[in-house]
Amino acid sequence: MLDINKIRSQFPILNRKVNGKDLVYFDNGATTQKPQSVIDAEANYYTDENSNVHRGVHFLSGLATDKFEETRDAVQDFIGAKHKHEIIFTKGTTDAINLVANAYRILLSKGDEIIISELEHHSNIVPWQMCCEISGASLKVIPLLDNGELDMNEFNNLLSESTKVVAVSHISNALGTISPIEEIISKAHKIGAKVLIDGAQAASHIALDMQKLNADFYCFSAHKMFGPTGVGVLYGKEEILNKLPPYQGGGEMIKEVSFEKTTYACLPHKFEAGTPNISGVIAFKQAIDFITELGVATIAKYEDELLQYATTEILKIEGVKIYGTAKNKSGIISFNIDGLHPYDIGMIIDKMGVAIRTGHHCAQPIMDRFSIPGTARISLSVYNTKAEVDVCMNAIKKAKLMLS
Ligand code: ALA
Repeated sequence: MLDINKIRSQFPILNRKVNGKDLVYFDNGATTQKPQSVIDAEANYYTDENSNVHRGVHFLSGLATDKFEETRDAVQDFIGAKHKHEIIFTKGTTDAINLVANAYRILLSKGDEIIISELEHHSNIVPWQMCCEISGASLKVIPLLDNGELDMNEFNNLLSESTKVVAVSHISNALGTISPIEEIISKAHKIGAKVLIDGAQAASHIALDMQKLNADFYCFSAHKMFGPTGVGVLYGKEEILNKLPPYQGGGEMIKEVSFEKTTYACLPHKFEAGTPNISGVIAFKQAIDFITELGVATIAKYEDELLQYATTEILKIEGVKIYGTAKNKSGIISFNIDGLHPYDIGMIIDKMGVAIRTGHHCAQPIMDRFSIPGTARISLSVYNTKAEVDVCMNAIKKAKLMLS
C-alpha cells in the first residue's frame, strides 16, 4: 500500500495554487513534477560540488565525477543492463533516438528497410525519415487498429530479410497503449533486425530488465520519471554500440587527436562529447531512488487503479469519446467531447486549476488515423488521487456546460 499523502508531501509544487485553485497536475506525460530530493541534489551540486567531470585531478572534479558515475550505476541497476558502459547519457529520449538513427545513416543503404509504427511520437518518426533520406533505406509503418493497438498481423507481413531496424514505442504518449514489445523484439531478431524501443513513457511505469527484454536499444528521459529535464539515457548492447560510429565529435569522446587521424574513446564516452548536464545527471539518481523505494510494480498497480476510476468517471459524461482503448494500457486518457474543441476544454479547466495537455501530442499520424485535429489528454502519476480525478471531472462538466 502506498502512503499517497507522504508521497505528495515530497513534491513541493503540489501545494501551490493555480488560478486561485489547488493545482491538479494531470500532464505527467509531458513531464512529471520533482520531489524535494531531486531539487536539493541539483541545488547542492551548484552550491557545494560544482566542477567538470572526467577532467580534473582536483578534489571537486573527482567528487563531481564520482557522483555522476553513481547515477550511471543506478541506471544500470534500474534497467538490469549487463554493463555500466552500456548506459549513455543524452539530452533526453529524442537525443538518444537521434544518436542511433544518425549512426544508421551510415550503416544502411538502398534496399534496407526500417519499420516504425503509426503509434509513434514524432521523435521516433522524423529521425528515421532523415536516416532514410540520406541512406536510401525505406520506411515501413505498422498500422493501428481502431482500439489503438498495433496491427501485429501487418507487422508480421512487413518483416522481411530487408528489415534492418525496428523502432517502436513501449507506451504511446498519445493513447496510452502498451505495445507487445517482447513479441516485436523476438520476431525482429529472428530475421536479424535490430530493435530500438522508445521508452519515454514507460520507464517509471513498467519494470525494466534489459537482459530479459533483449532490446538492442532502449531510450528514456529523466524528466518523465521525476528527474530533471535535459537528461536522458540511451541503453545499447555493448557489441552493437561498439560498431556504431560516434554521434558528435568533441572533447571527452576521443582517445587521441591529431590532424592526420583521431581515435575514439571507449564506451560510454565515445557517445558523450562535450560537458554534460552534470547537475541533472547527479539529481537523476535521487529520482531513481524515489521510484525504487516505492517499487515500479506498486506504482503501476496504483496508477492502473486511478486509470480505471478516471475512465469510468469520464465515460459518465455525455458525448465523451476516448481514443485508445487497448487491453494493455498505461495511465493516459485521450478524449474528445462531441462538438467541443479539446483546446477550449483545456483552457477552461486550467482556470479551475486542472493541468492537462491538448493538441496532437507530437503524434500527428495518430490524429490523422482517427481523423481528428487533436485530443484532450489526462496523464496520471503516482502522486495523483481519486479526489483529484473528481475535481477534474467536475471541471470538465463545467467546461462542457459553458461551451455547449
Ligand atoms: N512527449 C511529451 C508529451 O507527450 C512532451 O506530452
